[in-house]
Amino acid sequence: MKIFVTGGAGFIGSNFITHVLGVAQNYSVVNFDKLTYAGNFANLDSVASNPRYTFIKGDICDAAAVAAAMAGCHAVIHFAAESHVDRSIYDPAPMIETNVTGTFVLLQIARRLHIKKFVHVSTDEVYGDLAPGTFAAENSPVQPSSPYSASKASSDLIVRSYFRTFGFPAVITRSSNNYGPFQFPEKFLPLMIANTLDDKPLPIYGDGEQERDWLHVEDHCRAIQAVLERGRIGEVYNIGGLDVVENLTMARRLLRATGKPESLISHVADRPGHDRRYALNCEKIQRELGWKAAISLDDGLRQTIEWYRTNTKWLVGVREGEYRTYYQKYYENRDSSLRAITEAGRKPAS
Ligand code: NAD
Ligand code: TYD
Repeated sequence: MKIFVTGGAGFIGSNFITHVLGVAQNYSVVNFDKLTYAGNFANLDSVASNPRYTFIKGDICDAAAVAAAMAGCHAVIHFAAESHVDRSIYDPAPMIETNVTGTFVLLQIARRLHIKKFVHVSTDEVYGDLAPGTFAAENSPVQPSSPYSASKASSDLIVRSYFRTFGFPAVITRSSNNYGPFQFPEKFLPLMIANTLDDKPLPIYGDGEQERDWLHVEDHCRAIQAVLERGRIGEVYNIGGLDVVENLTMARRLLRATGKPESLISHVADRPGHDRRYALNCEKIQRELGWKAAISLDDGLRQTIEWYRTNTKWLVGVREGEYRTYYQKYYENRDSSLRAITEAGRKPAS
């Protein structure tokens, strides 16, 4: 089976490629990735010389490049996305372009090439902000809050329409917040780990009482393989760790695990439109595919901290250049950057 993986140089995609080439000798992989700021060749060092692995640099919005690269593949696993909520608040355009238009281009080509299965990797954020104590099931309403989650929800709906209208063999997965090795340090956990290791403040948005469901990336990769091999066409599968924790609690656990003081916690201005709770009901994937998360948050957290502590070269590399500018704008000048977008929204049209 030859699988076409989009966004395979990113966090989850690279973990998935390493996982699948390791456990399934009958798979070969074509990794199609634009190598944006989030894509990193170094994530794939361990498979670079594997004869079952091919890398093609390209943009999923470029139909000709996609068609040439996808030819001869049997299945598609679609990870490629602009994936960060905060960036979507400051600049929504790349989200719409890659997440919506890019997904549409992939569907068109995959349909023309008679791809046997298309796994669309989506997120629990499409369900929006949940009421305290509740969990989203696959048939819960889709009510996204940010330009990022709205672009993912839009792509989910287009994928669904291809199944309903054309009988296109798609499956949608919606996972909770992933963590683990190779995650770009713009996301909560790697950012907090990197700052902890440097004795820098941990920037907690607002009161820090927002809840997220944490899933180790290895568990996610096993789930995607199960969906690829046994998931029912036309279905949606939630994939969660069932470890729902407040951000502040997470930061404290991290500080305890590294022996650093709680005085490093620093409350900063909240993210506009910030969802208070994500949590998934994952009974369906357990019942139908026999999958459930196996890595406890304690073990996963310990392993992840250790990974960032020992992979300093990787961490230093990704925090150079673009990341430094990003950090200055969104953290060191947070109040003025946020004021600029709020005021821009209020200006009357001229
Ligand atoms: P990431 O930002 O780490 O990686 C995204 C990858 O996509 C990068 O390698 C980037 O170069 C590539 N890419 C971006 N635009 C592209 C384009 N136009 N053409 C080709 N490649 C392009 O993202 P991630 O955290 O690995 O997330 C992967 C997928 O999983 C995304 O679809 C995301 O929405 C979804 N997801 C992520 C999480 C999470 O916690 N990280 C949770 C649920 C769902
Ligand atoms: P994030 O990793 O951006 O994932 P998402 O918003 O997609 O769930 O953020 C996880 C949670 O952590 C979210 O509630 C926002 C919060 N957060 C902070 O408090 N500080 C930060 O610096 C970041 C990046 C996130």
